[in-house]
Amino acid sequence: MRNKVTKAIFPVAGLGTRFLPATKSVPKEIMTLVDRPLVQYAIDEAREAGIKEFIFVTSRGKGALEDYFDHSPNLEQELRKKGKDDLLATLQDTNMDSGAIAYIRQHKALGLGHAVWCARRLIGNEPFAVMLPDDVIAAEKPCLKQMIEAYEETGGNMVAAMEVAPEKTSSYGVLDVKEDMGSVVSVNGMVEKPKAEDAPSNLAVIGRYVLAPSVLRNLNEMKQGAGGEIQLTDAIAQDIAQDTPVYGYRFKGQRFDCGSKAGFLQATVAFALAREELREDLMEYITDITQVSRAAE
Ligand code: G1P
Repeated sequence: MRNKVTKAIFPVAGLGTRFLPATKSVPKEIMTLVDRPLVQYAIDEAREAGIKEFIFVTSRGKGALEDYFDHSPNLEQELRKKGKDDLLATLQDTNMDSGAIAYIRQHKALGLGHAVWCARRLIGNEPFAVMLPDDVIAAEKPCLKQMIEAYEETGGNMVAAMEVAPEKTSSYGVLDVKEDMGSVVSVNGMVEKPKAEDAPSNLAVIGRYVLAPSVLRNLNEMKQGAGGEIQLTDAIAQDIAQDTPVYGYRFKGQRFDCGSKAGFLQATVAFALAREELREDLMEYITDITQVSRAAE
């Protein structure tokens, strides 16, 4: 019987410079997709996958994130008094249990691998998940849940994977595929952000991982990789030579790159269209503006 995956690390220390000036005072993870902060989507996904402990790796200026996860008794009382039960339920859905959430500071921006390593003492010797909240994944069955189910069969390390256009490999960790079994692939190696001509495939790593604790030990070595940063990709790849296999998992769902403006806007439209109370008006608006712009061509 494998250890259950009950802990997840959320690396949220990044400066979010692509969203300046907004991120001067608002952490990127709090920016809203429709009416929920980006990070709430990752939390919901984690909860549905059975995660019970939520570890945030933060940095200076992320205070609003900690406040967001606090309960808001005054607001709740006010909504109760006014009989606004729907809003009250929405609010209470976001409440986290006491002690379920922990914050660790990453004092220097040394890379994603380093951020994950900062949480090592809270993980101990168990498998754990890593979720990058910038990658928002719309799926019938939450992506992390799909992966944990697959991981329960395979063990080892499992990373979410998706085919990308060959010229985009330099934005991702890329898998060197050993055996393609459909939704699961076994992996010979992984390369962080290779140029198209050096990429071993176009199967890219997306920000969901189920990892063995050996990855944290590999990170102790603090080896610098692509871009001079300590890369999570390298620490995972190192496990292959140490006999802990790595698998890629082609998840079912649509991934939005909310680390980019275009991706954030696409996600906003997609999530708004999925909401009954917004769909009709928004559809009408989109149809109107696309007709106007076509007419102008
Ligand atoms: C990180 C990882 C990369 C992965 C990507 C997914 O890169 O280092 O391997 O493919 O997330 O979004 P970042 O986008 O933080 O540069």
